[in-house]
Amino acid sequence: GAAELGPYRHYMQKEIFEQPRAVGDTLSGVESITPELFGDGAYAVFKDIEQVLILACGTSYYAGSTAKYWLESIAKIPTSVEIASEYRYRDSVPHPKTLVVTISQSGETADTIAALKHARALGMPHTLTICNVATSAMVRECKLAYITHAGVEIGVASTKAFTTQLAGLFLLTLALAQVRGHLTDEQEAAHVKAMRHLPVALQAVLALEPQVIAWAEEFARKENALFLGRGLHYPIALEGALKLKEISYIHAEAYPAGELKHGPLALVTAAMPVVTVAPNDTLLEKLKSNLQEVRARGGELFVFADADTHIESEPGIHVIRMPEHYGPLSPILHVVPLQLLAYHTACARGTDVDKPRNLAKSVTVE
Ligand code: G6P
Repeated sequence: GAAELGPYRHYMQKEIFEQPRAVGDTLSGVESITPELFGDGAYAVFKDIEQVLILACGTSYYAGSTAKYWLESIAKIPTSVEIASEYRYRDSVPHPKTLVVTISQSGETADTIAALKHARALGMPHTLTICNVATSAMVRECKLAYITHAGVEIGVASTKAFTTQLAGLFLLTLALAQVRGHLTDEQEAAHVKAMRHLPVALQAVLALEPQVIAWAEEFARKENALFLGRGLHYPIALEGALKLKEISYIHAEAYPAGELKHGPLALVTAAMPVVTVAPNDTLLEKLKSNLQEVRARGGELFVFADADTHIESEPGIHVIRMPEHYGPLSPILHVVPLQLLAYHTACARGTDVDKPRNLAKSVTVE
């Protein structure tokens, strides 16, 4: 009811603004990295496995897709990510030394539970879930678990569940890196410090809301949008596009920026806004040349740039500058303005933000 919403117009907006608290709670008590954060016996499992298989649906799948970049670059462990409904019905080659990781807000998604059982039936007994509901079927079915503390999420479009899943997956990455000898004490301390800073960093990003609202007015008049990202921000671009289509009903697609020239560039006109996630990482120079390709075709660019990038606003290029540069935790911060953009665009279009047409919060049937 209205009392619960406080100053917010919708649950989705409230949940977006709860993220500093949700991520803080999810990481609270983590003073140092140890496999036992994931349950008894985690050390032996983490020592034994040779690869990771992530299974999930929807927004949780994009959290998994982001984690693949962390797991391969920080923990140096081969990782595949599969959409649960695809995995359960295709022939695959099981490797017994696989850590099967399911990600689920509800812990009740039928396809994800079925995919988990399928993996187990194929001879992969090591199972772990990142889940927001401690009493769910998913937690009961998996040997190891990390419970996220997003709290109850009511908006059908997932927001705080996603960022808390990423927090849990980053912890998993560090624990695997440690057991496998890829995490020095100095690196551990630096990562823990960066994680502790997340609530403050998230709060500063939320303060960008008025700038995002100004963009949303323009987006509300469009029927298509393109989202670009590279590396571990490609899944963030996918999640941003998903949020926009779910609640504003604007058709949105995401591409890794380097693929632009292999197809979507044909769609770019002045009528197609191009949203770009542009942290100042090693790929920034390449990203800048991708942006020029869009500009040359009259496309309007909407760039979320980190504090230390040199991209400036100019005609046809709109820049919102993020307060900091966040290193490997950057996806957790960069998704927030995309959530806000989808939210305010949907509000401007007058859609039913918390209950978008045809969608359900939890899909417990196939
Ligand atoms: C539905 C929801 C999405 C969610 C997906 C997976 O499609 O609308 O927000 O990401 O299910 O749900 P889960 O509870 O397994 O994370």
